[in-house]
Amino acid sequence: MKIAVMAGDGIGPEIMAEAVKVIDVLRRDGLKIETESALVGGAAYDAHGHPLPPATLKLAQEADAVLFGSVGGPQYDTLARELRPEKAILGLRKECDFFANLRPATVFPELAEASSLKSEIVAGLDLMIIRELTGDIYFGEPRSVTGEKGNRVGINTMHYTEAQIRRIIHVGFKTARQRNKRLCSIDKMNVLEAMQLWRDIAIEIAPEYPDVKLEHMLVDNAAMQLVRNPKHFDVMVCGNMFGDILSDEASMLTGSIGMLPSASLDANGKGLYEPIHGSAPDIAGKGAANPLAQILSLAMMMRYTFNLPEAATRIENAVRKTLGSGLRTGDIARKGEKVCTTTAMGDAVVANL
Ligand code: IPM
Ligand code: MG
Repeated sequence: MKIAVMAGDGIGPEIMAEAVKVIDVLRRDGLKIETESALVGGAAYDAHGHPLPPATLKLAQEADAVLFGSVGGPQYDTLARELRPEKAILGLRKECDFFANLRPATVFPELAEASSLKSEIVAGLDLMIIRELTGDIYFGEPRSVTGEKGNRVGINTMHYTEAQIRRIIHVGFKTARQRNKRLCSIDKMNVLEAMQLWRDIAIEIAPEYPDVKLEHMLVDNAAMQLVRNPKHFDVMVCGNMFGDILSDEASMLTGSIGMLPSASLDANGKGLYEPIHGSAPDIAGKGAANPLAQILSLAMMMRYTFNLPEAATRIENAVRKTLGSGLRTGDIARKGEKVCTTTAMGDAVVANL
């Protein structure tokens, strides 16, 4: 197994160091894992003048899987768009065709109290958001800001091909089939032509999965239902933009965005694994970040790319045990609870492995 390790910016290097400790344990216990690191995002821009240098892209293409930290920081926000750290993750998704983004939102029983919603609304929540990653307004042309100051026009385009919609809807159905067999397809067909196409294709594909119950929901209603009755959902399938927004919303149901891993897969199961949170520059370098999303991303990698569910479960159980023992980083601590460091949390997971 060759894993490309790309820590990135902000809290990325700190949380990645904890995930690498977990890799070391797996290796010690017999898994043949090779790792190679590369700079990405702002760190790569600082060293090489580009957020996704050719050597980094090449490593991603050669490796079996990428373990990705986070990119971005305020010092890069005024750079030309092509040079911003975010371009690295968008470029990796596009170049490697990592089109299927799996974002689970699971509430650890130990953390039901950490959610901003009442614990009875979120306790036992287990929802999976499938987000398309290579199309939509993220990549659509035309895109520009033109005109003279005072009369400028900003343009972005929601663009989806039938093939792009088709393959992500299939991932949605297949995922639902392995879970509770309910798929909710998210669109905005009441206003957008591209989203009418989305709904039409979902309806067309449904007969191939008679065992899965398909439901359609407009994105604004879905945003509301997620906080009203999130347990209504099993699997949600969304376009790139709506999935970006709804997955941040869903993350907060679980108590902390610092807990949630994600997988971005190509058609062959190769993937990039990253926490859904960002680089959190405000707490970077302070040992305050929660490394669990990064560690759980490694667990997802074991499950989805390497087909090693036992290794995945072992890591997930170690995380659960660590939370059970009461360890809390600042993001998941309740008022008055003792807060631990990034390293202490990582070391405890390693001990519990
Ligand atoms: C995410 C992030 C990215 C996105 C940013 C960093 C480009 O918000 O992975 O959800 O919008 O996809
Ligand atoms: Mg996002």
